[in-house]
Amino acid sequence: MQTVGIIGAGIMGAGIAQTVAGVGLDVVLTDISLEIAEKGKAGIAKSLAKLVAKEKISQADADALLARITPVGDYAALSGADLIIEAATEREDIKAKIFEAAGKVLGPDAIMASNTSSIPITRMAAGSPDPARFCGLHFFNPVPVMGLVEVIPGLATSQDTIDRMKAFGEKLGKTVVLAGDEPGFVVNRILCPMLNEAIFVLGAGIGSVEDIDAGCKIGLNHPMGPLTLADFVGLDTLYAIMKVFHSTTGDPKYRPAPLLQKYVEAGWYGRKSGKGFYDYSGETPVPSR
Ligand code: 3HC
Repeated sequence: MQTVGIIGAGIMGAGIAQTVAGVGLDVVLTDISLEIAEKGKAGIAKSLAKLVAKEKISQADADALLARITPVGDYAALSGADLIIEAATEREDIKAKIFEAAGKVLGPDAIMASNTSSIPITRMAAGSPDPARFCGLHFFNPVPVMGLVEVIPGLATSQDTIDRMKAFGEKLGKTVVLAGDEPGFVVNRILCPMLNEAIFVLGAGIGSVEDIDAGCKIGLNHPMGPLTLADFVGLDTLYAIMKVFHSTTGDPKYRPAPLLQKYVEAGWYGRKSGKGFYDYSGETPVPSR
């Protein structure tokens, strides 16, 4: 494997690009326009500059890493990729269009993977040119820092594809876990209902934003409280995931918290929009209400 195509230059796509280029592979990074793909690369440059300032990486290595990432404006350049990773918005209609378009340029031996957090792999694989070469590959935010990747085979995914995806995850220095193709796979199936429950707890007035976060952070020794983490993941993403869990399983325990829906409707998506459970406009985040 030498070249990886990444579709989606947002937080996850850019994080994956940085990680992949960090182990010496070439990355072709694309999004809905060249401008957005370039913006994704600029974000990676910023993150690398911080690592250079902290002397975690040399300027020469940072420059070489960046030089391995090529932003492009359309899918034609993905035809030389050994692996295409889709890391677009968590919406099935958007992803389906991507698989159809990228499927037209997918090489005869190349693998198509999705970084979906919740959408069934088998269902998405059906819209790709070869479901045997389609797989879930789920990273965690921030990708360069988090040590895990989930490999999720769909019904038709071949053993060769699974083996190649495991080897790829390990090449990136990640621990690989194999997860079943059920909503949320392993980690999000456990994490997202917990974040959603924290929002129910807030909505019911059982605890304040600060007390819920301090309670879990200190009482459970988590690196972030659940409302901080929900803002970090993105409230729109969390809402989309809970809706998939709810509609796929039909189990009411997965219904999105009403307060989560309200925040999303207000455009309060968390850290990326500047406001969620916390307001990020000042030097340190403060509860937004
Ligand atoms: N590239 C490389 N390294 C980076 C980096 C980047 N983009 N960003 C941060 N780092 C490094 C820093 O240099 C630092 O390294 P050091 O410890 O050697 O100095 C280290 O990462 C920690 O960074 P910071 O000191 O800036 O920040 P914190 O110590 O506060 O840690 C955190 C930040 C790692 C985000 C920590 O708070 C944490 O682990 N939070 C929980 C994250 C989590 O749960 N993620 C999963 C979310 S769920 C998900 O993604 C699935 C999706 O489908 C919903």
